[in-house]
Amino acid sequence: MVDGSKSSNQMWGGRFASGPAAIMEEINASIGFDKKLFSEDIRGSIAHATMLAAQGIITTEDRDQIVNGLTTIRSEIESGNFEFSRRLEDIHMNVEARLATLIGPAAGRLHTARSRNDQVALDFRLWVKDELARTQAALTGLIAAFLDRADEHADTVMPGFTHLQTAQPVTFGHHCMAYVEMFGRDLSRVRDAITRLDECPIGAAALAGTGFPIDRHMTASALGFREPTRNSIDTVSDRDFALEFLSIASISATHLSRLAEEIVIWSTPQFGFVRLSDAFSTGSSIMPQKKNPDAAELVRAKTGRINGSLIALLTVMKGLPLAYSKDMQEDKEQVFDSAESLELALAAMTGMVRDLTVNVERMKAAAGSGYSTATDLADWLVREAGLAFRDAHHVTGRAVALAEQKSCDLSALTLDDLRSIHPDITDQVFSVLTVEASVASRLSFGGTAPVRVREQISWWRAKLADQSVLRSD
Ligand code: ARG
Repeated sequence: MVDGSKSSNQMWGGRFASGPAAIMEEINASIGFDKKLFSEDIRGSIAHATMLAAQGIITTEDRDQIVNGLTTIRSEIESGNFEFSRRLEDIHMNVEARLATLIGPAAGRLHTARSRNDQVALDFRLWVKDELARTQAALTGLIAAFLDRADEHADTVMPGFTHLQTAQPVTFGHHCMAYVEMFGRDLSRVRDAITRLDECPIGAAALAGTGFPIDRHMTASALGFREPTRNSIDTVSDRDFALEFLSIASISATHLSRLAEEIVIWSTPQFGFVRLSDAFSTGSSIMPQKKNPDAAELVRAKTGRINGSLIALLTVMKGLPLAYSKDMQEDKEQVFDSAESLELALAAMTGMVRDLTVNVERMKAAAGSGYSTATDLADWLVREAGLAFRDAHHVTGRAVALAEQKSCDLSALTLDDLRSIHPDITDQVFSVLTVEASVASRLSFGGTAPVRVREQISWWRAKLADQSVLRSD
């Protein structure tokens, strides 16, 4: 395409005598990354031109030429037949310059009653809104994978950990449902962000609004927004929607990273709780026995980039006076990179969760070690022998010490052993010392008992099926 005047920028070069220094061009240009916004830019311009004509600000002939020209440009870009120019700085001016070449003077009327400040705010909002919808779909897919695994393993007993020390037996289904809650919160954050973002910036112009009789409600509804933004200064200086996307991405990536860490630990030969499918692991070039959880490790590492992007953009924004400053051009790469990383991490994790093989025997054996039913013994003493919990805790501690001395599990202590610690203990106690009895007894709402876990699975399935809960309005 025509690259514009050699001496200065053809869009705003009127008052500039000479072209930008090469280094200025390099630091100023955003086309290298904001060309990703071409389709949003064209959509926005078509809606703007249509509104200008409806309001009698431009003629319908001009509108038709503009809309046809923009449609041509869209197919040129989509088919790879568009030459982006760095001298034209960004996607907005690349498109507009091409429009001038295609349709002549009418192109110059498109920018009536708007500025690149509201234009970029519009394009970027449209892009983030679509990305939030993609994130919503990806999170839903991961949650669905977890629900299936939870259903399958609602009775599979594993050790529950605190401090990564064996704490109490839980079920693998219950553990999976913990992740459903985490990713479910991410999903609701996405929904909230869409609600807040759903205001249309176009028409704020440079920062003060415009004297032309525009109809901002018309452009807002044409572009699928709930309503126009309410303050023109805020509109061109606000990047909260980008920060919210990055914070949602950071929290969600942090959840993914914790899961990745668990998968890394669980798939070691020492734990042996799960086996990753070949599709999500790699071998070692020197050690033939190895199967490495590379996908999980990379998901864990991607979190670093995503968290970094959030801090980067917060730092860009924190010193900016109202309204627009060019600093804000640095918003896009952070968001694009995080979006790509998060999408990839969610997809990889969904695959891993769906594919991994659970070693039920190994989990169960580990669940019984480390005196994991000690709390059950203490609870039994409270319930059946009328002890205060603190006293029961003390008695149980002595039982654990005895078992340790005899190198056996709590359930392998004899009744005499237990009676030597507290005379009121009866052989009934053995019914609570198995891991199955332990999990089955945790019937409190939200507890690990298989019946409770199955109730939660049904609740989440109903919630996911009810689109109104997840819709973005
Ligand atoms: N490329 C710019 C950005 O991404 C577009 C807005 C430029 N506005 C301006 N007044 N220079 O922020």
